[in-house]
Amino acid sequence: MRLRTLTTLHYRNLAPSDLAFPAGVVSIAGPNGAGKTNLLESVYLVCTGLTDAAKLEQLVRRGEREAYVRADLLRIDGESRLEVGLGRGRRAYKVDGVRVRTNALLRGSAVWVRPEDSDLVLGSPGGRRAFLDALLSRMSARYAHQLALYERNLAQRNAALRAEERHDLGVWDAGVSSIGSEIMALRRRVSARLEPLAREAHVALGGHKDLRLSLVETTTPESFVQDLAARRSEEFARGSTVIGPHRDDLAISLDGLPSGDYASRGEARTIALALRKAELDLLTERYGEPPVLLVDDWAAELDPSRRAFLLDLARSVPQALVTGTEDVPNASLHLRAHEGMFS
Ligand SMILES: Nc1ncnc2c1ncn2[C@@H]1O[C@H](COP(=O)(O)OP(=O)(O)O)[C@@H](O)[C@H]1O
Ligand SMILES: [Mg+2]
Repeated sequence: MRLRTLTTLHYRNLAPSDLAFPAGVVSIAGPNGAGKTNLLESVYLVCTGLTDAAKLEQLVRRGEREAYVRADLLRIDGESRLEVGLGRGRRAYKVDGVRVRTNALLRGSAVWVRPEDSDLVLGSPGGRRAFLDALLSRMSARYAHQLALYERNLAQRNAALRAEERHDLGVWDAGVSSIGSEIMALRRRVSARLEPLAREAHVALGGHKDLRLSLVETTTPESFVQDLAARRSEEFARGSTVIGPHRDDLAISLDGLPSGDYASRGEARTIALALRKAELDLLTERYGEPPVLLVDDWAAELDPSRRAFLLDLARSVPQALVTGTEDVPNASLHLRAHEGMFS
């Protein structure tokens, strides 16, 4: 898959623009604050429907009310136009001119490799859940839909747990456990496929230690309802649902030691890159072609084997947009970033 053109209007600090991208490696170089990350973020948002901005307003240029991003994509099965409009707390997507719900947006696919990816390994379980959820949402429209439904049910159940008068939780237990069980089953399947791919990439990156990924679950699909009933008093005391996929983790270990506690920064960076490569492989299989690869700040990667791996990866896919304070050698297009403009 590749991006042919990108149009942005009032997206963060990006100047209104229409950019055309060739196949191959597109090098986007410029100083800090130029808008390189914002450009990749806008591509990722319009292609996948995903953003980790705390508030959608942050994506709209300060002083403006609305932002717009449009991408024309070339896929093996034809061309496609994706659009997203952002306003106060809301967003609207179109695929080939037709309004869609975000979770039906499966026409575009992108993988974003960022320096912050190390947090996946070193940070809290929430980041790893978000990684799995984002991956599964791009692989299965059903997953994206069930996840949104689960979150709604969970919020209602938590509200009932906090209510002054005690509600009968039976109906919420049934909803949360049945949807939650499906989410758990899909996560089990994807993490089982993720592990061998991540291990392979880890070896290719020169990682000598034994990398393992495993889901740590707070309940099981079979026992979810009973487990909820067993934790009743604790839940009322805390005012929240204490078990379920929203509390699970994807444990990562090297030679049996949990990476969050024991991995060095370099090891964490290598694992994070291996996870991104595994993500790229799974999406390639799902879509029948590699996604657009977005690599943010490649020159920040100082380790020679990781640097080589990143550049090889960028050169192995139909298209990669690669940003940095330095140019990528031998790119098919060299863009200069300066104050939200690219030329
Ligand atoms: N909503 C917004 N409106 C205007 N400017 C913004 C907005 N969000 C971020 N910026 C600006 O974008 C710049 C950061 O751009 P970024 O893409 O991270 O730069 P870099 O080229 O270093 O990756 C900062 O100067 C920030 O002030
Ligand atoms: Mg940046």
